[in-house]
Amino acid sequence: MLIVKTIEELQTAKKMLSGSIGFIPTMGALHHGHLSLIRKAREENEHLIVSIFVNPTQFLEGEDLEAYPRKDEADIKICELAKVDILFMPTSAVMYEEDELCIGAPAVRGYVLEGAKRPGHFDGMLQVVMKLLNVSGATHAYFGKKDAQQLALITQMTKNYFMDVHIIPCEIVRDDRGLALSSRNVYLKEDERERALCLSRALKKATKMVMSGELSVEKITKMMSEELRDADEVEYIAIVNREFQALETVEIGNTIILVAAWVGKPRLIDNLWI
Ligand code: PAJ
Repeated sequence: MLIVKTIEELQTAKKMLSGSIGFIPTMGALHHGHLSLIRKAREENEHLIVSIFVNPTQFLEGEDLEAYPRKDEADIKICELAKVDILFMPTSAVMYEEDELCIGAPAVRGYVLEGAKRPGHFDGMLQVVMKLLNVSGATHAYFGKKDAQQLALITQMTKNYFMDVHIIPCEIVRDDRGLALSSRNVYLKEDERERALCLSRALKKATKMVMSGELSVEKITKMMSEELRDADEVEYIAIVNREFQALETVEIGNTIILVAAWVGKPRLIDNLWI
């Protein structure tokens, strides 16, 4: 595995590759969620590039940029074992210059739910993903459904900007009790880990309701808010279509149910595609 830290090194390394390039951008502290994307990309492509970069522009003032878990050594081992060809680990100075041209999240989809709670987050996320897709030369880029809105916005960006890359959605990976894996789960204390299970439990119960024929968004939301009592604060429960528009009735095959809640230190998100 080649570890590269500058744009020039990556561009030189990339020139040696022919055939499909699978790419997984990450912020490191890799877990089995990331690994499932890496494995899928390994199977589906001739070459595999992973990036690790804690992107400052997608963190809001007061968020956990400084405290974000960093585990470079372990991450390098994981990538080696997963047969990654090129690991790109740039610094902020490599990725950004002063007074950059910026790309903005779309007015509606980009400013509901996560975009409403974290205004500016998606601008920074799209900015770095645009850069990373361009410099990696990815033919196929893999993103988790765990960050459903992020995935939708990246897909839209590649369409709106005629970018020649396939965006591949990947299933959410959970631990054996249902908690969606996240780098921020390391912040959870023992009892909080227990309470954090209420997010996936609420989503599971919502599926059961839908399966038994209950399609009313009002009723499902009510059940979920009761189920989420174990969280310290619920930021939103949303039932939307794949365009992120609010629904009154669940549309089977076109619905995403999302929750965001605080449990202890971390803000957790989870969702379910119906
Ligand atoms: P990060 O949170 O490190 O996640 C990297 C990728 O892993 C994202 O596509 C995310 O959706 C996926 N992922 C995280 N947890 C997952 C899980 N439990 N199951 C499946 N996939 C999971 O998302 C980012 O970094 C950044 O915003 C990034 C796209 C790298 C831009 O900075």
